[in-house]
Amino acid sequence: MIEHFKVITITHHVIDVAEIEDYIIRHEEEGDLVKKLQLIKDELEIDEMSYLSTCNRVSYMIYTHKEVDLDFINRFFDLVNPSLHLEDSSKLSNLVSVYEGLEAIQNVFEVACSVDSLVVGEREIFRQFREAINFARQNELASDNFRLIEKAAVETAKKVYSNTRIGEKPLSIAALAMDSLLQYQPSKDSKVIFVGAGETNSLMAKFFLKHEFTNFTVFNRSNHRGETLANAIGAQNLPLAALGTSGLDFDIMVVCTASTNPIITAEIYEKLIGEDHGKKIIIDLSVPANVSKAVVEQFPVEYIEIESLKSLAEKNLAFRRQEIGLAKAVISQQVNAFKALYQQRKLARALADLPTEIKSLKERVKSEVFKDRIEMLDEPAKMLISDILDYFEKKSISIPMKTAKKAFDLD
Ligand SMILES: NC(=O)c1ccc[n+]([C@@H]2O[C@H](COP(=O)([O-])OP(=O)(O)OC[C@H]3O[C@@H](n4cnc5c(N)ncnc54)[C@H](OP(=O)(O)O)[C@@H]3O)[C@@H](O)[C@H]2O)c1
Repeated sequence: MIEHFKVITITHHVIDVAEIEDYIIRHEEEGDLVKKLQLIKDELEIDEMSYLSTCNRVSYMIYTHKEVDLDFINRFFDLVNPSLHLEDSSKLSNLVSVYEGLEAIQNVFEVACSVDSLVVGEREIFRQFREAINFARQNELASDNFRLIEKAAVETAKKVYSNTRIGEKPLSIAALAMDSLLQYQPSKDSKVIFVGAGETNSLMAKFFLKHEFTNFTVFNRSNHRGETLANAIGAQNLPLAALGTSGLDFDIMVVCTASTNPIITAEIYEKLIGEDHGKKIIIDLSVPANVSKAVVEQFPVEYIEIESLKSLAEKNLAFRRQEIGLAKAVISQQVNAFKALYQQRKLARALADLPTEIKSLKERVKSEVFKDRIEMLDEPAKMLISDILDYFEKKSISIPMKTAKKAFDLD
């Protein structure tokens, strides 16, 4: 029954994201998670179950005939996190959203397509959603119903992303920084230096590689991280202290460290450029800025800084949000398509048993119901009866199969 699909979820819409962790399943290893999910499944008579935990939601998709009322939810979260002390169940009922039947399917599609996310249109959630379902199926927590919903979600996401602009316009600071840089149309031979070799600069480096830049140098405080980034992009690795003594000319400088003091001071910058007074491009993604104001004021530079990128990100997010209505319309159509698909699947499952049932009926006719009367016949008559029953068996299987396939468009 399609009503057996249910979603129990707590999201950023109702709770501070930091508090969501009370409603996730804590575990050391995957094996522990499987055991805990299996326990919940057994205790609460759930047929299929998947578990999705992201930074802004926890979502339990279940397939069960049981009514998901307040008592069910209490028992559910008591098993999820026994240290929750759920004596005040009204708190839980305010936090938890429950969706059933087509509304559950709608919610699953909206989550998978990132329509309901904090960062609308981010595709990472879709990967997490598929991973959650695959994890459940691999560990026998879910089977055919969830396979069907995953297949439908893949198709829905394709439609949403190709028929709306919900995934357009970058939001990540690194992607926006690269877009801003490309507006200056720098040559692919530009000499690029990275100051800092953390996560953000490593991501920036990937964008440079993608856009076919090749000439890199990395400056970093620790040798270890500097070397990792330098090796990944075929760059020279130098210590931060070498800035200003390296005599290295450059065209683009990408600065991003967690230092709270400027690293590129006017003094260091002057040494770094030496006699070269050509215009440079500086990208500074650090918070607080790592390039001192004096550099921007005293030297010929194009300066790409994080505040303007952040406001661009907000504008882009607002653009994506405008597409939500359109995306929901696509999803509604897909929910209706899923309903038809689910009914077809149910029928296909029912028909799968038909041949065995008809065969056993035929055997019963011969060996029980008409046994005595058949035994009274001579051999040619017995053979005729057997042939007639075989013929009837085939027709009894093929006629309803053909009719159902035609009516429900089954493969
Ligand atoms: N607001 C945003 O959206 C946004 C986005 C991207 C980045 N950021 C900012 O970017 C900065 C770095 O982020 P991340 O993700 O790349 O961090 P990360 O992965 O932790 O890397 C930190 C980097 O900074 C270096 N570093 C730390 N303290 C330093 C110091 N006192 N002097 C010199 N180098 C130092 C580290 O060098 P070692 O290898 O020696 O430790 C490493 O290269 C942060 O300020 C962050 O706030 C903000």
